[in-house]
Amino acid sequence: MLVKSIAISLALAQFASAAEYWESFKSQVDPKNITLPKIAQTTSYDEVTQCTYYEPTNFQFVESEWPTPWEIATSNGMNSSQEFRNLVNSINWKAMPNITARTMGADGAIDMSNYDEAKDPDCWWSATTCTEPKHEGVNPDIYACPEPETWGLTYDDGPNCSHNAFYDYLEAEKLKATMFYIGSNVVDWPYGAQRGVKDGHQIADHTWSHQMMTSLSNEEVLAELYYTQKAIKMVTGVTPRHWRPAFGDVDDRVRWIATQLNLTTVLWNLDTDDWAAGNTEPLSQVQGNYEDFIKMGSNGTFATSGNIVLTHEIDNTTMQLALDYLPQIKKNYKHILDVATCMNITYPYMEKTVSFAGVGNTSTVTSAVATAAGSATSSSSASSSDSAQTAADKESSASKVSATGALALALIIALFA
Ligand SMILES: *[C@@H]1O[C@H](CO)[C@@H](O)[C@H](O)[C@H]1NC(C)=O
Ligand SMILES: *[C@@H]1O[C@H](CO)[C@@H](O)[C@H](O)[C@H]1NC(C)=O
Ligand SMILES: *[C@@H]1O[C@H](CO)[C@@H](O)[C@H](O)[C@H]1NC(C)=O
Ligand SMILES: *[C@@H]1O[C@H](CO)[C@@H](O)[C@H](O)[C@H]1NC(C)=O
Ligand SMILES: *[C@@H]1O[C@H](CO)[C@@H](O)[C@H](O)[C@H]1NC(C)=O
Ligand SMILES: *[C@@H]1O[C@H](CO)[C@@H](O)[C@H](O)[C@H]1NC(C)=O
Ligand SMILES: *[C@@H]1O[C@H](CO)[C@@H](O)[C@H](O)[C@H]1NC(C)=O
Ligand SMILES: *[C@@H]1O[C@H](CO)[C@@H](O)[C@H](O)[C@H]1NC(C)=O
Ligand SMILES: *[C@@H]1O[C@H](CO)[C@@H](O)[C@H](O)[C@H]1NC(C)=O
Ligand SMILES: [Zn+2]
Repeated sequence: MLVKSIAISLALAQFASAAEYWESFKSQVDPKNITLPKIAQTTSYDEVTQCTYYEPTNFQFVESEWPTPWEIATSNGMNSSQEFRNLVNSINWKAMPNITARTMGADGAIDMSNYDEAKDPDCWWSATTCTEPKHEGVNPDIYACPEPETWGLTYDDGPNCSHNAFYDYLEAEKLKATMFYIGSNVVDWPYGAQRGVKDGHQIADHTWSHQMMTSLSNEEVLAELYYTQKAIKMVTGVTPRHWRPAFGDVDDRVRWIATQLNLTTVLWNLDTDDWAAGNTEPLSQVQGNYEDFIKMGSNGTFATSGNIVLTHEIDNTTMQLALDYLPQIKKNYKHILDVATCMNITYPYMEKTVSFAGVGNTSTVTSAVATAAGSATSSSSASSSDSAQTAADKESSASKVSATGALALALIIALFA
């Protein structure tokens, strides 16, 4: 009994210290009072002008304190820094599901040949589009907005340097999206990330360097998430509670590591394939996907629950597709919402400074997103933008709503079993 209660308090202590990691992050930015400098990069619609590098004035990026942009986040000595070792040591790794890192095949794709897809023991999304974790102590995924006739607006891979026209459009239409930002883009284009928070979008973590997460070591997975959290906080003043894996590549080991950082995984149940338009797929095929998904808004497909759609802020093509189709999406769906709003998540950031109002407040002209930087105090019913993911994102077909009590139950089981 004594041994058991010691074990329990140790477990609690470990949870507490792991959950509080963000409190030591530094930021000089007040997320409710962001003023972007009126330089050409923040105002122009010309791609080259927008994508010209600048030195941000409201924080300092000290290169030696960060992973190398676009390299795995243990780079630049981060793996041996005292800060990161302390984080690693605050986690009870013995509680992690016994799953080893996947390997990449000679063809550059992840090797699934030895994985039992029928049993799917690790809820590996890339293999099966599984979204219901099989292991305990893992936050359950979000992958569809429960509200009927709702388009869950999400855009991956930003902030892209050339997003002014796109963000201006969303602002004018009072649409809020969940923006899954890549840490390397956040430090490269900080005003772009600040714009996202200022406009009242929900900002979430999309890893530091956009790797296949299940192929990384435990410490690499942790660093990819941790340094992105830290970068988003430094640049915008908020620390996300949600993340999305690049290519949807997540299993229960990766989910468990994310859970140690108090992060919940967000996937999708409709994939536009927009990143591929003009690359590996003709534009017309992606347009066809959009048109099908738009039809689903009024033909009964989402009569009892909604979707989350995968789209990208990655280049002019994907952002222009958003501008081209959002008017029709607005017509065919009752709501267009960011994920925090459609899930009634009041506080999608660790800090309680910025709040989101929830579905009950978005069906009228009064306020979808409550706060954020003064500019986003009200929004109409239909709105959202979406984030996207590059490369081989596959469509997930499941569409049941995750049980909200599952995390609490899992924690109780983990602590008392
Ligand atoms: C995550 O954060 C919430 C809210 O701050 C807190 O109540 C909860 O205990 C944290 N979860 C874990 C696993 O630390
Ligand atoms: C907002 O920021 C500006 C400077 O950027 C400052 O002058 C002003 O006092 C701030 N307002 C609040 C309410 O903090
Ligand atoms: C960090 O990575 C470097 C290069 O891969 C390696 O030599 C070193 O042993 C690592 N340090 C720790 C503490 O893991
Ligand atoms: C983890 O799984 C491997 C096989 O995949 C097994 O050999 C090993 O004993 C397991 N470790 C624990 C601690 O259960
Ligand atoms: C709704 O439209 C989609 C896209 O065209 C189609 O796949 C689906 O079968 C339709 N559903 C119904 C109930 O008509
Ligand atoms: C941002 O968008 C531009 C314009 O489409 C594109 O050339 C560039 O590759 C994008 N940058 C990133 C980092 O994705
Ligand atoms: C895409 O590029 C064209 C041509 O430069 C430009 O007119 C348009 O505004 C861009 N679209 C978006 C959404 O940025
Ligand atoms: C709507 O917003 C108000 C004020 O922010 C809040 O008190 C209320 O609980 C919200 N209602 C719902 C259903 O979210
Ligand atoms: C969000 O709040 C609305 C209004 O109270 C409610 O109808 C809806 O079921 C809630 N959705 C979730 C996912 O909690
Ligand atoms: Zn992505």
